[in-house]
Amino acid sequence: MFELRHIILIEAVDRLGSLKRAAQELHLTQSALSHQLKQLESSLGIKIFHRVNNQLHFTPLGKEFCEASKGILEKVHQIEDRVEEVKSNEMESYIHGYSEIETQRLYDQAHSIADFIHWDSRWEEGSLILEAGCGVGAQTKIIAAQNPQCEFVGVDISQKSLEIADQLTQDLKLGNVKFLKEDLTHLSFEDNTFDHVFLCFVLEHVKSPLTILQELNRVLKPHGTITVIEGDHGSTYSYPDSKAAREVVQAQVTLQEKSGGNANIGRALYPLLKKTGFADINVSPRQVYVDDSKPALVSGFTLNTFTAMIKGISSEAIAQKMMSEDAFQEGIKDLERTAAGGGTFCYTFFKGIAVKR
Ligand SMILES: C[S@@+](CC[C@H](N)C(=O)[O-])C[C@H]1O[C@@H](n2cnc3c(N)ncnc32)[C@H](O)[C@@H]1O
Repeated sequence: MFELRHIILIEAVDRLGSLKRAAQELHLTQSALSHQLKQLESSLGIKIFHRVNNQLHFTPLGKEFCEASKGILEKVHQIEDRVEEVKSNEMESYIHGYSEIETQRLYDQAHSIADFIHWDSRWEEGSLILEAGCGVGAQTKIIAAQNPQCEFVGVDISQKSLEIADQLTQDLKLGNVKFLKEDLTHLSFEDNTFDHVFLCFVLEHVKSPLTILQELNRVLKPHGTITVIEGDHGSTYSYPDSKAAREVVQAQVTLQEKSGGNANIGRALYPLLKKTGFADINVSPRQVYVDDSKPALVSGFTLNTFTAMIKGISSEAIAQKMMSEDAFQEGIKDLERTAAGGGTFCYTFFKGIAVKR
């Protein structure tokens, strides 16, 4: 019937009070604007304006149309602003997204595997430590509490995640952390700023892990250390074994690859650190083995971390026709089965520590 350009036109004429000024603002000739106005009136079958003493006045129905147009334009601007905000704040290709469910999953994940990955996350007193890609602060709260004599700077590209992290550390009264919005590919810090760098579950999501490692190496002081923790989905196995469960895990690997990441990056930590030029590289596998004698890991890791992560990609995997909905549900059911009596679940994280030359 009518188009967005007609709505924009009516709002501009109302706000600016004349056809001439509206035409100038919209970069139209006055005759083009009059033509659009006529088009609109004929498509609606009503008069929007009438002229009195050479001045434009809304007809009653025209006024109603104008008010409705303003409401529509406000909504259009809101969605434009929202799209811009998301584009500037967050990685569009980030496979897990930034939902409340994902925030909770990151907390469950960090908490459930803290003993495996953080027993040795300790640095000397007085160190200034950069946590790269801190997200909602799930690791921050553990490492900052464990190293009260160190100062932490948590950085992430997502402003929303940083606000959640900041609130969390305030609630926990952790006074040794501050948060900044930064892009890891172009950090604003000077060369040789930090004594140590820490990052966890970040490289698996990025297109060029090497670029980020080089940038982190730049801001690290000579002889400072980098600590990198990543998972590797290829290390997953379970009892009972199930083809359907293996297929949903593979769907996640494929989706992550499509968005430029690598869900099997754990095994590549050593070559990546070596290629960046780090010295004294030590990568240690941290295997999480779960059976029903470990109920905290059954719920915290098998169900709330790993299975929840796979559930999180279900709509995308189905939409991309990687699997049918039934096949996906079967895979999830079989993953959940490994958490029931007699089942076992195994996953290996990799922790790399290396020194800047
Ligand atoms: C899976 S989350 C991990 C968060 C946290 N390290 C943890 O273990 O809970 C990955 C984080 O890396 C961040 N990230 C990815 N690429 C980034 C970049 N180029 N610059 C800054 N942050 C980035 C994402 O915004 C996200 O918060």
